[in-house]
Amino acid sequence: MNAMPDDREVGEAWERFVVEQVYPEPQTKARDDYRNYDAPGRETVREFYRQNHREQTYEFVLAKKRDYLRFCRREMSVFEALEYLNTLVDDSDPDIDLTQINHLLQTSEAVRAAGHPDWFVLTGLLHDLGKVLCLFGEPQWAVVGDTFPVGCGYSQRIVYPEFFAENPDAQDPRFQSRCGVYEEGCGLRNVHLSWGHDEYLYHRMKDFLPEPALYMIRFHSFYAWHREGEYDWLCDDHDREMLPWVQAFNPFDLYTKAPVEPDWTSLRPYYEQLIDRYLPPTLAW
Ligand SMILES: [Fe+2]
Ligand SMILES: [Fe+2]
Repeated sequence: MNAMPDDREVGEAWERFVVEQVYPEPQTKARDDYRNYDAPGRETVREFYRQNHREQTYEFVLAKKRDYLRFCRREMSVFEALEYLNTLVDDSDPDIDLTQINHLLQTSEAVRAAGHPDWFVLTGLLHDLGKVLCLFGEPQWAVVGDTFPVGCGYSQRIVYPEFFAENPDAQDPRFQSRCGVYEEGCGLRNVHLSWGHDEYLYHRMKDFLPEPALYMIRFHSFYAWHREGEYDWLCDDHDREMLPWVQAFNPFDLYTKAPVEPDWTSLRPYYEQLIDRYLPPTLAW
């Protein structure tokens, strides 16, 4: 495994390559303009989180895991899954009206340009592939958006925390102490996060990718943890060791959402061989 790049290194490499070389033209947004939930670009974002925070209960998450983690919906190659995603616009995301495949390619190309190992590039390409849950009829509030632990108290650092008042778990004392149903320091692997594309894709990929890649996939939407520093009381040392990888991934996911289309046709051969090296030809979803 390659040594962990420090944040500044990642940030600088990213700035240089993406701004100057990869997507030179409409780099119109300043960093502070991303994830601006106070004045979201689309009104749907607020409504999205109202529903998400109301409906994602502890029982809901367990039921979705029992159902989807059997992977018995259909057989699809990674490319088929990628092409499906091209039809989806993410209601939870204030920053992007681009198709998902463009977001994934912008992410992976920025990782590649920064000189990271190939599994990190592949993680960039795959990280949102779990959004195929929409293909199986799931509403967006059960697929996308920031994730948070269920079964314990809600952090006030989660986006739109006021909407948790409508969640039935907020009235259940079992779920409202700091650790709730969990043990202090039990490790995030033992904590149920709100259901969505991160957890789903983690389980789909866990036999194929290295551990830091799996952390990036599983926790990339858990901003309350990797950005706000909350929920450390549920973490173990392994989580703390992996956290810098999740944080190293985040700028590539977040700041590469520029409205320029990567050239999929010319990039495709590179990604075909990359996918072949790590993943089987088709996967059960
Ligand atoms: Fe995502
Ligand atoms: Fe993403």
